[in-house]
Amino acid sequence: MEPGLPPASILVELRISNFETCCSTEGKVKITRRKWLRQAVGAVAAVGVTAVLRSEASALPKTGRTVDPHIITGDGSLMTHASSRGLLTGAAVNTQLLHSDETYRRVLGQQYSMVVGENCMKFGPTHPKPERYSFNDADGMMAFAEANGMKVRGHNFVWHEALPDWFAGTVTKENAKQILVDHIMTVGGRYKGRIHSWDVVNEAIWIQDGRPDGLRSSSPWFQMLGPEYIDLAYRTAHEADPKALLTYNDYGIEYDNNEEGKKRAAVLDLLKRMKVAGTPIHALGVQSHLNAASTSTFGRSTTELLDGARQLGLQVFITELDVKDDGLETDDIAKRDEIVAGVYRDFTGSMLEGKDVKALLTWGVSDEHSWLNSPKWRVKHPDRLQRPLPFDAEYTPKPAFFALRDSFGKAKKR
Ligand code: XIL
Repeated sequence: MEPGLPPASILVELRISNFETCCSTEGKVKITRRKWLRQAVGAVAAVGVTAVLRSEASALPKTGRTVDPHIITGDGSLMTHASSRGLLTGAAVNTQLLHSDETYRRVLGQQYSMVVGENCMKFGPTHPKPERYSFNDADGMMAFAEANGMKVRGHNFVWHEALPDWFAGTVTKENAKQILVDHIMTVGGRYKGRIHSWDVVNEAIWIQDGRPDGLRSSSPWFQMLGPEYIDLAYRTAHEADPKALLTYNDYGIEYDNNEEGKKRAAVLDLLKRMKVAGTPIHALGVQSHLNAASTSTFGRSTTELLDGARQLGLQVFITELDVKDDGLETDDIAKRDEIVAGVYRDFTGSMLEGKDVKALLTWGVSDEHSWLNSPKWRVKHPDRLQRPLPFDAEYTPKPAFFALRDSFGKAKKR
């Protein structure tokens, strides 16, 4: 076992969900005691290790009892609602919390069928020195996911951010190709066959750089290798892990407005050029960092994304969903939570209308640990914590949780 990882019994107990109560308004769900036990035993068998059945067993509902809709685990979980529609659902994982916070591990295990590393698989964290790789955190997340029967998204190989300190002084036009290939072969190769999908290139479009094709010419990768770095990255990723679905991941393409419309068109054009060139690409990742204070809507935008991806034969993943609320004037938490939940409802309602979206992940689990709570993102209300995710700091489900769960429930089976 990896040093510092919780023992298998802890990793596995997470799926043995108890039935909690909290606050919701949606319809009734029926579950029998036998069905619940089957789920629990199946979860243990699936990971092939002994699990600890804890005292929660006494909280099982009696046969035929109508389970309260407030119940959010088992049949009331995000995961079960999503999987009943053929969808995967997940969250970005903070590996420090994975080690230190038992409730975090339990909620992850109860709610999600998939995880993605919030940082642990990025270039800097996995490749801290030119000749040295570091996999402790990424290995720990893989072990957790696999012990709990969860799928893993790889995020990411090539980005203009999260580069290690050595990068600027070491990478040149002459060696950049070799460094990119070695990195992808080493990290991709380590997890070969175990990754659902890799974000191979992240955020390669940046209209503000002024190129007609919208490519981010300010990216160090572009500056070293020109536009070809993109195809090179995908071809290499396919060689490293032929079974992983290769994804292009970007943000700022979700809303019906001029600015996002331009970026969306540039992303779809890039994907089309890649398809025409025969580059291995299988999915579009729509990051979905949304804004509760935005006056723009969804509808035309989401149709364009879904139609565009479908025409190119690509799956769609919602990869980093959260809703910033720093721009909302009101300090009233209940009001803010309702507005945030409304954005979850509208966006996921539009995106899940067709059958193109196959996975939906939020960028974190609880508000307390959201990246949006770094001072950088608290501009209008620096003294106020943002509430962008489905769970609050106590892991109590918020209106956004129920909005998301309702959207899964309403989605067509895929
Ligand atoms: C963010 C992480 O959440 C932060 O912890 C880190 O400091 C910076 O990166 N788009 C992406 C993610 O593709 O990798 C980013 O994650 C959020 C925006």
